[in-house]
Amino acid sequence: MIEEDPRILELRKMRARAIEGGGAERTARQKAKGKMTSRERVEKLLDPGTFNELEPFITHQGDEMHLLTETYLGDGVITGYGQIDGRTVYVYSQDFTIYGGTLSEMQSHKICRVMDLAVRNGAPFISLIDSGGARIQEGVRSLGGYAEIFRRNAQYSGVVPQISVMLGPCAGGAAYSPALTDLIIMVEKQSFMFLTGPEVIKAVTGEVIDAESLGGTDIHTGVSGVAHLAMHSEQEALAMARYFLSYLPSNNVENPPYAKTADPATRMDEELNHIIPLDPTSPYIMHQVIERIVDQGTFLELQPNWARNAIIGLARIGGHSVGIVGQEPAAMAGVIDIDASDKMTRFVRMCDCFNIPIVTFVDSPGFLPGIAQEHSGIIRHGAKLLYAYSEATVPKVCIITRKAYGGAYVVMSSKYLGTDVTYAWPSAEIAVLGAEGAANILFKRQIEAASDPAAERKKLAEEYRAKFNNPYYAASGGYVDDIIEPKETRPKIIAALSALRDKFAPAPPRKHGNIPV
Ligand code: HXC
Repeated sequence: MIEEDPRILELRKMRARAIEGGGAERTARQKAKGKMTSRERVEKLLDPGTFNELEPFITHQGDEMHLLTETYLGDGVITGYGQIDGRTVYVYSQDFTIYGGTLSEMQSHKICRVMDLAVRNGAPFISLIDSGGARIQEGVRSLGGYAEIFRRNAQYSGVVPQISVMLGPCAGGAAYSPALTDLIIMVEKQSFMFLTGPEVIKAVTGEVIDAESLGGTDIHTGVSGVAHLAMHSEQEALAMARYFLSYLPSNNVENPPYAKTADPATRMDEELNHIIPLDPTSPYIMHQVIERIVDQGTFLELQPNWARNAIIGLARIGGHSVGIVGQEPAAMAGVIDIDASDKMTRFVRMCDCFNIPIVTFVDSPGFLPGIAQEHSGIIRHGAKLLYAYSEATVPKVCIITRKAYGGAYVVMSSKYLGTDVTYAWPSAEIAVLGAEGAANILFKRQIEAASDPAAERKKLAEEYRAKFNNPYYAASGGYVDDIIEPKETRPKIIAALSALRDKFAPAPPRKHGNIPV
């Protein structure tokens, strides 16, 4: 029998050491928390057997605070490339068993390398994050490492999709890098995101709070709007990253992948003709409208628990990816507030940078009035939405199902913001103000002078309603392209998107715009 070459034996030994991570004890601690190891996560994320690791032998450099007495191969992050549904992706997965997955200069080097490779090769980039942030012992070298990553997150934004899956306590830079990416997925009871943790907060402000209440899934998917989705388990989170990518192209010069559908393009849904209540103040559920129109079972809602008055999500219509934006009249009557503006804006821009047509469903009484909203800058936030729809050059189709009053008409993909095809349902009400509000302002003196002001207001409001609270006035001026029966909506959208597939709408040259933030 030929003896193995000792150099090959050495390589195998080194490989085995790299796989050990931070050692058996720390790995057992990780497992005891119900968490997968960083390698198991990569295997779960990618198509089986497709992962190729890069730079597994890197260790941290420098001996600040005696770091060199404990070096680990890979330095707390696994990087490389593989495939998802046969398409190349680049990935990094932080290893919490090595210095809590914290970012060192060399870890940053590894991460930046796969980010650069991803962009050079037009492939998505996925971060599996489980990290205490900047490695304290390294000081400014780890901070500089984060800056290198943030710069790439920003410069590569809109070039290739970037997805962050949060799989542990993610502090400082481990929360900031994801905030620059297109999608953040968290895991219930396992992921936390904060810039400074409970200990630091207690020391600085005296406030006492636990990690879950500070930066758990309920906070970031329901209150802050930082994260897009919360899943029950790591497995589900990784599966969601794969699923999300199925709607996106690999880069900004490709089109999203087409998925054959069994749902006929000509399908008309009779129920839609009865979904809008005759009483304009009664709500209905816009989510149901969307589900009935898109290819069956394809609506992937994002940020479902934050700013519920607005709806965003990806879907397929006729097999093609589309971005859905809309209002939910069953939540705050579909009014547009600051959070709703931010939510819709970011999504419109994501669709635009990845060549995903946008279909907008409008039912909103307008912007939310109130001192708190005004003082918090609803003008600035609403302006973002105007900006986003105006700059988006992808095919845009708009359906006004019911209310489109004032600012809501204008900002929600209105025709003269550059929307390609605008349809209204017969239930559409398109006007500057609702009937009562308009009558109060236009006929203030007439109402005050009347013997019965309430009856006078009612009469004048009725006259206003008859004139404006329907789609025909808007259609007569060309502000909507057609009025359609609700059941026709699916075939009409499919036909419009097909006619717009070769849309060419170059923007004037500029360095970049100056979106209000
Ligand atoms: C070095 C760290 C570390 C850090 C954790 N560890 N954070 N090592 N630098 N930042 C190490 C611990 O010493 C420990 O090592 C191991 O990781 C696991 O940590 P535990 O505390 O035992 O785990 P846990 O109880 O789960 O708590 C995790 C944690 C907590 C919530 C992340 O460790 C924590 O609060 N760390 C500090 C977070 C922080 O403030 N980071 C700096 C952010 S500033 P052993 O050897 O025992 O396994 C930043 C700047 C970016 O990132 C700039 C933004 C613009």
